[in-house]
Amino acid sequence: KPLLLIDTDPGVDDALAIMMAHAHADVLGLSIAAGNVGLSHTVRNARTLVDLVEAQTPVFAGCPTPLVRLPEEDAAFVHGRDGLGDVGFPEPVTGVSDEHAAHAILRLTREHPGEVTLVALAPLTNVALALRLDPTLPQRVKRLVVMGGAVTGHGNTGHIPAEFNVGFDPEAAHIVFEGFPEFDLVDWELTLRHAFDEAEFDHWLATGDHRAAFFERVFRVARETNRKRERRGIIAADALAMAVAIDPAVIVRSERRHVGIELDGRLTRGATVVDWDNRLKLPARANVVLELDQARFGALVRKALGA
Ligand code: BDR
Ligand code: CA
Repeated sequence: KPLLLIDTDPGVDDALAIMMAHAHADVLGLSIAAGNVGLSHTVRNARTLVDLVEAQTPVFAGCPTPLVRLPEEDAAFVHGRDGLGDVGFPEPVTGVSDEHAAHAILRLTREHPGEVTLVALAPLTNVALALRLDPTLPQRVKRLVVMGGAVTGHGNTGHIPAEFNVGFDPEAAHIVFEGFPEFDLVDWELTLRHAFDEAEFDHWLATGDHRAAFFERVFRVARETNRKRERRGIIAADALAMAVAIDPAVIVRSERRHVGIELDGRLTRGATVVDWDNRLKLPARANVVLELDQARFGALVRKALGA
């Protein structure tokens, strides 16, 4: 079983990813970022999810803002004002650690050197801070999987080519993309190519256990938003990254490339610029995932829903 440490901003697709992680892997902790909604909500949502999967996973609160510039937008219109579909869940039983997320990342990777797959499903603020505190972090991490970027420029934020996680904290993404010698990159456009068929997904929700019932409730707002934007199928970015973290054999095609982060730009701040033709002769640290085994991915999600 893989040993996972998940940096996340739940978030509806984060919720599905966290459920997958607990169904298929050992989870050392959830380090929480601000992103989809504010940190107080994302921390509380993480605690609600640990309750849901009946685990003892510790929750570590991280940075309340990006490293440099305050965010221009959140993603409440997708995930609900509370980040989990505005269902109104009761106060969670699971608590929150008093250790900062960045310190927890450093400590847990010291306690399990070479064993931990770090799964980054949020703006990279906490991971970048951990890396700045201790640049030897990558040497202790077995794998890093990042959900972020839009490798051919079809982003999902106000800055057209930017994807949300990278666009929310571009400086953090820059630090992580330069600082880790190797990582798997699951970008937004891969997500669009690997949406689930709605009828199939609804069948899982209808036949699954309490986790499926939970997801059906938290997913309603996002589903409605996606319908209005005429997005086809069930899109769950963080679930894809989690599949890559749990089962690397889910990757059908990927390419090692240098990926730079645009930190300025009138229209392009937060863009992930891929050097597809190796013109810059810079280290190709990112393993850009281009195709996944949809059936294998589906099986991981389905089991996590108890269907
Ligand atoms: C990413 O941004 C968030 O809204 C999702 O949770 C996912 O991590 C997709 O761009
Ligand atoms: Ca997320």
